[in-house]
Amino acid sequence: MIDSNARCPEWLIGRIRASGGSISFYQFMDLVLNDPQNGFYSTGRLKIGKDGDFCTSPALTKDFAGLLAIQVVEWFINLEKKIGVNSEFLSLIEIGPGEGTLSRDLINSIFEIEPSLIRRIELVLVEPNKGMRLRQEKVVKSLKGVKLRWSNLDELSINPITGIVIANEALDAFPVERLVFRTDKVFRQGVSLERKNDGYYLKFVDLKITPSISRFLKDAETLLKIDFPPKDICNGWVTEWHCDIEPWFEKLSKILINGTLLVVDYALESRRYYNKTRETGTLMSYRNQEASSNILRNAGFCDLTSHLCIESTITYAIKNGWRFLGETRQGQALLALGLSELLYSLSKSSKSDLSVALARRESLLRLVDPMGLGEFRWLAFQKTNYVDLNLRSRFLEEPIS
Ligand SMILES: C[S@@+](CC[C@H](N)C(=O)[O-])C[C@H]1O[C@@H](n2cnc3c(N)ncnc32)[C@H](O)[C@@H]1O
Repeated sequence: MIDSNARCPEWLIGRIRASGGSISFYQFMDLVLNDPQNGFYSTGRLKIGKDGDFCTSPALTKDFAGLLAIQVVEWFINLEKKIGVNSEFLSLIEIGPGEGTLSRDLINSIFEIEPSLIRRIELVLVEPNKGMRLRQEKVVKSLKGVKLRWSNLDELSINPITGIVIANEALDAFPVERLVFRTDKVFRQGVSLERKNDGYYLKFVDLKITPSISRFLKDAETLLKIDFPPKDICNGWVTEWHCDIEPWFEKLSKILINGTLLVVDYALESRRYYNKTRETGTLMSYRNQEASSNILRNAGFCDLTSHLCIESTITYAIKNGWRFLGETRQGQALLALGLSELLYSLSKSSKSDLSVALARRESLLRLVDPMGLGEFRWLAFQKTNYVDLNLRSRFLEEPIS
């Protein structure tokens, strides 16, 4: 049945026709988010925040960056001690900075915690989409005293760095392959057109799987060690494969000589991700604070995100030279970084500051809410060359109350 919200815009009709009448879901997701003239990100149409399309942790409150900065400063100081790079720049790289809020607030918080560090670090934003970069420029231009640049992974691999890489809700925006399991065969999900009286609409079609999908199906059991597909799935069970994550780890491993990587994202263990009851995968569409499982709706005017599979993500990282330090839920991570002490200090606010303190308290509680942002996963990795780094990750430790 054709969905009346899935009307295909003119530009996309042209692309689908040029590809012979259908494109893979991977291509569809890439086009509607990243096509330079029409994508949701590349046009800068995406707005992150309480009044935007959806709210991320840094957009909710700068206390997120404030708490994370405690870890970032500790990592930087220990990196300097271990490798003695005092005279050179250390880099703080943010992948997919969205509005630029996290980068700005991290730098401000680092300045508050360890002012002298600001002169020894550079901030590097990795943003492929022009429209988002323009939004970031407006936000980070207020930063003073810190070296700042935009770059990409290819450019960075020519002059590798030492430092910290952070990807908050960035990998969930990478295009994914969707796989459809029918009774007798697996298909690559595709998107094609159907004509209705007033125009063309998008619909799903089954396409032949590619050699790389066949390899993923084989690797799932042997390399990733996941039960895939799970037993007793229904006819038409759909799931996703984050096929860009392995090449991303491979590229990223070439840009970091020594340092850490923190990935914060929607993520599930493989048994929950590839579960027979999860019949339509994890993909969701977001617009104007409304989440929908209708992922073909309003193409180019919605965000699309897909969860990460924790075991696959870790395996891809290790395979490409990363050491896995550990993972935890956001709620636990922020408590280990001092969230409860911050809440306690807010309870001591004077009467005149009460409304501000209450608003801050509410946002802090949302960051750790197990039904919301608190369920996000923090996955930490380390890259080491010539030295034994062994950096402490405070957020992976038990919170002491
Ligand atoms: C959901 S937003 C990120 C939100 C932001 N990090 C935050 O915490 O508010 C996704 C961002 O990743 C960017 N992006 C998309 N593909 C990317 C890629 N391959 N590498 C780096 N950034 C990417 C998008 O343009 C956008 O800025």
